[in-house]
Amino acid sequence: MGSAILQRDPKIVDDPWAFRPERFMAEAVQARKNDPLKSLLDHKLIEKPFSFGARMCLGARLAEMEMMILISQKHGGKIT
Ligand code: HEM
Repeated sequence: MGSAILQRDPKIVDDPWAFRPERFMAEAVQARKNDPLKSLLDHKLIEKPFSFGARMCLGARLAEMEMMILISQKHGGKIT
């Protein structure tokens, strides 16, 4: 499941590139509760970039380490 792609799909999220944190307020969540497509935004796995469970990303640890190395190189090569 590509969570970044799902979160930018206009079929699931109205105006997906707009910054609208009120989408996640309790009333908004309640309003889309019975809509099978729009309620995907509230699925507990949608915020997991590497997915979860048996088919989760095999490269997750490697990708995280690469990101840490890149960030540390940007900040003088120190990982604390
Ligand atoms: C930021 C980097 C990455 C992200 C966000 C990412 C994300 C994902 C996602 C969402 C899946 C699908 C999981 C599912 O089907 O539920 C996946 C699968 C997979 N990823 Fe990644 N991935 C990344 C980097 C990597 C790297 C560096 C490797 C290998 C070195 C890798 C190897 C794999 C493999 C082999 C699968 C298939 C696992 C399976 O179907 O059993 N990924 N990844």
